[in-house]
Amino acid sequence: MTYDIAKIRADFPILSREVNGRPLVYLDNGASAQKPKVVIDAISQAYSMEYANVHRGLHYLSNLATDHYEAVRGKIARFLNANHEDEIIFASGATEALNLVSYAWAAPRLQAGDEIVLSLLEHHANIVPWHFLRERQGVVLKWVEPEPDGSLPPEKVLEAIGPRTRLVALTHMSNVTGTLVDVGAVARGTDVPVLVDGSQASVHTPVDVAALGVDFYAITGHKLYGPSGSGAIWISRERQTEMRPFLGGGDMIRTVTRDTIDYADAPLKFEAGTPGSSTRSVSALRSTI
Ligand SMILES: Cc1ncc(COP(=O)(O)O)c(C=O)c1O
Repeated sequence: MTYDIAKIRADFPILSREVNGRPLVYLDNGASAQKPKVVIDAISQAYSMEYANVHRGLHYLSNLATDHYEAVRGKIARFLNANHEDEIIFASGATEALNLVSYAWAAPRLQAGDEIVLSLLEHHANIVPWHFLRERQGVVLKWVEPEPDGSLPPEKVLEAIGPRTRLVALTHMSNVTGTLVDVGAVARGTDVPVLVDGSQASVHTPVDVAALGVDFYAITGHKLYGPSGSGAIWISRERQTEMRPFLGGGDMIRTVTRDTIDYADAPLKFEAGTPGSSTRSVSALRSTI
């Protein structure tokens, strides 16, 4: 594939500036991508012409913001080939998404001595939430080491799974080496739920959660050229029914009385509070690629 570098550069306003007297060259997309004009314009449009809280008002602007917000859910569902839009839960990024699984799915289910299998390729966001469970609940972390060439054979992951393994938590692509992990082969080889950190892979390779057969798949918007503070996680309906709410607040409840709470249905049940209002710019970019 050949790239028209000048055309791509022209999409990114920041690349028109100079640093140290030279045109800016930015090679740190693994950490965070620069924002193309279409995304910056969508954020500006959202704040300058369409701003209101989503799911909170009966007026025109709130309905418009809600429609745009929910349309992104559909776009992300198609981006990940999810079967159902309500399997997409918005989060502030992959970190919050992975913590959601730790707090809302794993913490209430795992007992002392239960195991989580993870690899030494993981980002801290897919390590520290599991350490919390080790510290607080006596959950055992079982580490799979990559091969000397950096690869992580699925068989090696499957060998680490034992009768007490309750979760396999793996990156789909390493943020350090770029290694692509065959998470589909892992999911096909076990009945244990598989959580995938797709922060890097979702930028570089098509993702099909239906074909992968995994249970959780997290993405983060700022690496996909979207705004910081946007992200999502696909969680199968089956796993969602096993989850308790994570954060409590507005939008995630149907009714509250002095003595009772009735939660909203998923995905709103897992989306407490005012969400990032520019989430839709992620999809603005995807639709232009
Ligand atoms: C593989 C991987 N997982 C998770 C994260 C965390 O993403 P965020 O900081 O957007 O929550 C990153 C970010 O560097 C990453 O590269």
